[in-house]
Amino acid sequence: MDPALPPDLSATLDRLLEGRSRKDLARRAEALSNAYRSGGGSDIITSDEDALAYALVRLPATYAAVAAVLDAVRQAAPGLEPASLMDVGAGPGTASLAAVTAFPTLADVDLLDRNPHLQKLAKTLLHAGDHAALRAARCDRVDAITSLPGRGGADLVMASYVAGEIQTERLAGFADLLWARTAQVLVMIEPGTPAGYQRIAAMRSRLIAAGARVIAPCPHDKPCPIVAPDWCHFVQRLARSREHRLVKGVELSYEDEKFAYVALARSELRREFDARVLSPPHVGKVEVTAKLCRHDGRIAIDTAARRHRDAYKARKGWRWGDAVTTETSGPDDTTS
Ligand SMILES: C[S@@+](CC[C@H](N)C(=O)[O-])C[C@H]1O[C@@H](n2cnc3c(N)ncnc32)[C@H](O)[C@@H]1O
Repeated sequence: MDPALPPDLSATLDRLLEGRSRKDLARRAEALSNAYRSGGGSDIITSDEDALAYALVRLPATYAAVAAVLDAVRQAAPGLEPASLMDVGAGPGTASLAAVTAFPTLADVDLLDRNPHLQKLAKTLLHAGDHAALRAARCDRVDAITSLPGRGGADLVMASYVAGEIQTERLAGFADLLWARTAQVLVMIEPGTPAGYQRIAAMRSRLIAAGARVIAPCPHDKPCPIVAPDWCHFVQRLARSREHRLVKGVELSYEDEKFAYVALARSELRREFDARVLSPPHVGKVEVTAKLCRHDGRIAIDTAARRHRDAYKARKGWRWGDAVTTETSGPDDTTS
């Protein structure tokens, strides 16, 4: 799936930006970035202009991360065809906007958010396109913690970049609430920082204990083998629009969004795969080396020497985040 915002969504954003002071948006965007960097949440968004600044500088990146995650989910669970979606902490509707492309079967979309300005923007973005499910989506302005217990469920529940805004002592309860509303699959995505990964890992192990089965990224339901200071995360590159560069005051035409995630299912939906690539493989003249999370629940440094032509050739095509087959494995693997 294309990590770039769909053209109709970009066009709507461009329309919303018409006539706005770039200086003012830049100031708001910087305040938002500083708040998120220092562990603050979306409560800093207190006006429609703030919401627009968020959409300009963060929506393309979180959309790209959600698109990458949903690609991995579809690949690992090709039989998944959800009819309904609950987007918890939906913000401007990022996860919903990406999910309807990933899953054309989605007909019923429910968004929850407590921020009135992001909620208003979500309505504008969802209703501007011609996707029937998005145009008919319900956007409820509610607190997820208090409202989830009284709501119906959905086939697919998504919480994208939300857990970091839930108080640490309430995170376990939040995970339980999301899981209780999940009919088929729950997808949780966080920034690809050590703290973001820790939240994902904590919710993952809690829900596995409650019966969840992992679809992705892990090729197993065993305890996460990663040991601090290492952390499991992935990256999605995306192009920056001219507006984005202007408002951010940067020249680089792209950025790399790092994210951590887990997709959990109520039933065994995962198509078995041998391993997930955990960092960019190193392709040298004599060998390819890749760090893998393996099906047996262990981390392995997989090495294929050039003289093992098939194994070397297969590994040269591996990318960070890929689900891979290792049957052409080199003889030199080390595990931990
Ligand atoms: C960083 S934004 C992420 C938005 C969107 N999901 C995305 O991926 O771009 C976090 C969102 O979660 C919402 N949020 C945080 N805590 C919430 C809660 N307890 N109930 C409802 N929404 C909440 C915020 O209002 C904000 O819109």
